[in-house]
Amino acid sequence: MTTIHPGVCNSQEAVHRRLGDVSVKEARRAATSRPVWAGMFARVDSMTEQVQVTRQYERTDTLLTRAGVWGPGPEGVTPVDVLLTAVVSARPREILEIGCGTGQFARLVMETMPECDYLATDQSEAMVAATKRRGVATRLVDAMQLPFMAETFDGVVAAWVLYHVADLDRAIREARRVLRPGGQFAVATNGDRHLAELLREAGGEPLVTQFSSENAAAALRRRFRHVTQRDIETRATFPDHASAVAYLATFSEELAAGLPWFDGPREYAGFTSVLTAR
Ligand SMILES: C[S@@+](CC[C@H](N)C(=O)[O-])C[C@H]1O[C@@H](n2cnc3c(N)ncnc32)[C@H](O)[C@@H]1O
Repeated sequence: MTTIHPGVCNSQEAVHRRLGDVSVKEARRAATSRPVWAGMFARVDSMTEQVQVTRQYERTDTLLTRAGVWGPGPEGVTPVDVLLTAVVSARPREILEIGCGTGQFARLVMETMPECDYLATDQSEAMVAATKRRGVATRLVDAMQLPFMAETFDGVVAAWVLYHVADLDRAIREARRVLRPGGQFAVATNGDRHLAELLREAGGEPLVTQFSSENAAAALRRRFRHVTQRDIETRATFPDHASAVAYLATFSEELAAGLPWFDGPREYAGFTSVLTAR
């Protein structure tokens, strides 16, 4: 953990919106009087439990709070930068994105490659509506059952989605099916050490998922011949304790309540990967 200078986080506004009228004093009280159950339940809910997944993304504020804290790590790039380069350098004409969230990545690609035909999809109605508001063509689609003919797209993108799907191999097979020969599947995900220090401090455990920096390449190789992987260290910046609590609350109220009080800003390391498969 590193102490950083205040005022570098662009998420403060989102955090205050999320916290509503919870004062710093209240957050401090909750943090210092750590409940006895915190160690038992302070863990992130199962990533593939579909009721939890649906609930987590039925509103957009959870995702916006999370996305706002991330910035470049030691290499000076974010995983989104690396994913964008991977997608754009393949020069696709038609791209399908699955699990598009609020459409931030879709917008980036469309601004970089205005000539490209981009279709963003998600299984959450709120995410689809948010993406539409950005002027992106969007449809409500489950990654496990893509309603498209075989060999329809030159590129398929799945950013931080495949750790959520109920049947990972089926979702990868679906991506493969709708890709034209030579088309590229580009994905982003987190490693097992991602934010592990913050999770541990809050009484939780590192999050080990079905599709991580450690196991994603093997999963993709079952359906694709050529797989590349780039690991990117990134940084979560919290201007104060309340903002870290707000971030943790997007996963679990128990984790949020379990974070011991700290003074001033803090920075935590994140570990992510971008993979391409053909
Ligand atoms: C962690 S968010 C990532 C969103 C976006 N790709 C980003 O990078 O900001 C996961 C997204 O995947 C969507 N999702 C989860 N399971 C899905 C499925 N089976 N089919 C389609 N979308 C799914 C969620 O609704 C949510 O918007």
